[in-house]
Amino acid sequence: MFSRVAVSLFSLLLVVACSDRGPSYPKVTPPDGYLQRAENQEEGRRIFRQLCAECHGRPSEGRSQRADFFYPPAPNFTSPLYRQADPAYLFWRIRKGKTVEPYLSRGSVMPAYGAHFSEEETWSIVAYLRVRSEVSSD
Ligand code: HEC
Repeated sequence: MFSRVAVSLFSLLLVVACSDRGPSYPKVTPPDGYLQRAENQEEGRRIFRQLCAECHGRPSEGRSQRADFFYPPAPNFTSPLYRQADPAYLFWRIRKGKTVEPYLSRGSVMPAYGAHFSEEETWSIVAYLRVRSEVSSD
């Protein structure tokens, strides 16, 4: 009896622990060398300034002051942590925005750009986000 309770408690804990590991997303990869190419990073920067900076931060502003106005707040892409971010995760978030869980339930305002950009354009933005910590002072 006791062990059955212990086992079900354990599986419950396991479920809770696993659901805490973040969302799952398709493990897509960019074309070889795409993220490293300067012209792709440049294209990403152009798009970012045009469409994303309003919420995420303009050049020389670093993180936008408007970023904290949102709940959940817009992240800081000038953080070097984004150098290590999984490109597939960034790709997925740009295309799906607030339309996927858990962001949907949290009331995110991040737009979904899936219909807006080609896959190549999306990878260009990913390329830029991963180096923004180095080029944000322009
Ligand atoms: C209306 C304001 C707004 C605009 C415009 C916007 N974002 Fe966001 N974005 C947010 C907010 C707020 C969050 C945080 C909540 C979330 O993760 O959904 C976010 C989250 C993200 C994330 C997830 C980051 C992480 O660490 O999980 C990525 C990637 C992103 N935005 C990229 C972009 C890109 C690229 C553009 C332009 C093409 C853009 N955003 C335009 C408000 C915006």
